[in-house]
Amino acid sequence: MKERLLQEFEMIYGDSKRCHIYFAPGRVNLIGEHIDYSGGYVMPCALTMGTYGVARKREDRKLCFSSLNMDKVIVEKSLDEIKPDPDNDWTNYLLGVIAAFAKEGYEIEQGLDLMLYGTIPSGAGLSSSASVEVLMGFVLKELFGLDVSGRRLALAGQWAEHEYCGVNCGIMDQFAVAMGKKDHAVYLNTGNLSYEYVPVELKGVKLVLANSNKKHALNESAYNDRRRECEEALRNLQEVMGIEALCQLDPDTFDTCQKAIRDEDCRRRARHAVMENARTKKAVEVLKQGDIEAFGRLLNESHQSLSQDYEVTGDEMDALAEAAWEQPGVYGSRMTGGGFGGCTVSLVREEDVPSFIENTGKKYTEKTSLKADFYVVEIGGGPVVLL
Ligand code: GLA
Repeated sequence: MKERLLQEFEMIYGDSKRCHIYFAPGRVNLIGEHIDYSGGYVMPCALTMGTYGVARKREDRKLCFSSLNMDKVIVEKSLDEIKPDPDNDWTNYLLGVIAAFAKEGYEIEQGLDLMLYGTIPSGAGLSSSASVEVLMGFVLKELFGLDVSGRRLALAGQWAEHEYCGVNCGIMDQFAVAMGKKDHAVYLNTGNLSYEYVPVELKGVKLVLANSNKKHALNESAYNDRRRECEEALRNLQEVMGIEALCQLDPDTFDTCQKAIRDEDCRRRARHAVMENARTKKAVEVLKQGDIEAFGRLLNESHQSLSQDYEVTGDEMDALAEAAWEQPGVYGSRMTGGGFGGCTVSLVREEDVPSFIENTGKKYTEKTSLKADFYVVEIGGGPVVLL
């Protein structure tokens, strides 16, 4: 891979002198969906799929970006004029992080050449964007010797997403990418960013992702609407009680105070947040006990709640999850990520994986006329220097 990346870099930039190679992962969220902007617990893992970056410093203040996933041409920018570029959307993840670093007072005095290559299918809900953002921050940190923690890399990525890419996302994706640990989930309290690594020991069970190939585009979708609906629910609740985030409520308290939420849709969104948070707390317990069956049941309940109360699944994700639930050897299956398309994550007994892929794929196509792609994935670590 390294040789190939350097050759590609030479084709675009002429030579690959003084280059370094970096990698940042993608992520899959096991459970705790759509609650990272409501102060909830989430449980994502970094993947071994991700984004490679070949980079070197320049003597001038130019930023020369290219991507093997795009046209392989150089898009040129300057450190003296950092602003969003509507014509080259993909560069906004990079520019946004550079702007975030500048805002934080990090001195970046020289420009850079940077070539990207991503192995995460885009639009699959596996955080190719957070992967690129964290990679950019990591490249800056390493090339310029900056003292930046993983937590700050995550926050810079989130800022870029909000300010340069128009998505009012939570912190989960960038945190999982920046702080991932091999064979562990990151059990993160998004209310205060405290976290714990939880071993994911599946013993004969595989994590299988099914890509619906229904493209999701978070900023065009109802993602920002959901966030607004949760904020409205919270404002209504704050009229009767002193809470700062929906996930501070346990299910019983929510039952007694939910009438304060005037709009029916907002009430259901809030119910999802409260119940999903409770499920995630339960999920970490059963995972630590090695009870994969109970863990799988929580995954299924999460999907149902995302489908009925939160309404972010859509026909395609429902079809994929329902097809998975019918297959032998499946402990649980749910949509993962922002929703409205993207991937499901399923826990499948190893010997049943081939038939799972065949039969789930067939049923999905019968229902939707789309073809799903399947990936049997491994849990990887955070960003690394490869060369
Ligand atoms: C997207 C966002 C995350 C999170 C998930 C849903 O991936 O970027 O912050 O809200 O959706 O859990």
